[in-house]
Amino acid sequence: MNEETDSLPYIPKSLGTVEVAKDSSTYHGELGQPINSEAAAIHELIKNCPPLDLNSIYAYLLLTQHFSETCVVARGEQGIDGFVSGYVPPNQPDVLFIWQVAVHSRARGQGLGRAMLNHLLQRPKLADIAHIETTIGPDNLASRGMFASLAREHNASLTEHAFFDCHLFGSSGHEEERLIRVKLPARHPDGRRVDNSEAAHASAAGTAS
Ligand SMILES: CC(C)(COP(=O)(O)OP(=O)(O)OC[C@H]1O[C@@H](n2cnc3c(N)ncnc32)[C@H](O)[C@@H]1OP(=O)(O)O)[C@@H](O)C(=O)NCCC(=O)NCCS
Repeated sequence: MNEETDSLPYIPKSLGTVEVAKDSSTYHGELGQPINSEAAAIHELIKNCPPLDLNSIYAYLLLTQHFSETCVVARGEQGIDGFVSGYVPPNQPDVLFIWQVAVHSRARGQGLGRAMLNHLLQRPKLADIAHIETTIGPDNLASRGMFASLAREHNASLTEHAFFDCHLFGSSGHEEERLIRVKLPARHPDGRRVDNSEAAHASAAGTAS
């Protein structure tokens, strides 16, 4: 991976020790693994969530069929309120790459986007994930805000790297996509994820693994 970091001015490399309340989501729907019968509705959700690229229904079928363990759907009273697609890159078993995060306009501002990411981090099968990565276009302030918020919540460091230059998108006019990497909190011996400040405290007290 390209380790040359050139952070944008509005995302500090280290987000310090700001305390943010855990479980602050006020969303009341159910979060879980998506199933293939939800692929068409997920496609519809993404269609209504610019600036996300709309992939084919077939792509969402593959995600729900083969990658459901690294994807999340939020099911509310009015239908699907949110979706996160992700996967573990074949040569990076400790990385969870987040592809798309979408929250329906009716469910925004309730902490759902961040709750879906935290939901993934709590899955036992993803216990060995040490970093979350995603790519973000230069103007996607909502996505930047969400990943910065996740990093703050866990007292985690966040770095930004050049990744997919715009020329890689051919003549489509697509802007560059920069790689955001959040280093996740250490795991407590009991399997819980603790935030980095708690891990440091436990280590100082001689109780961390
Ligand atoms: C980005 C998106 C998923 C956020 O969903 P959400 O459920 O409203 O986000 P949350 O309520 O969990 O907010 C999490 C953090 O992101 C911040 N955030 C959310 N929307 C924001 C916006 N428009 N501008 C700046 N920050 C924003 C919140 O302030 C919050 O930070 P805080 O905890 O420090 O207050 C949603 O706006 C969306 O679907 N947008 C369109 C698709 C998209 O851009 N997806 C991201 C690219 S993968």
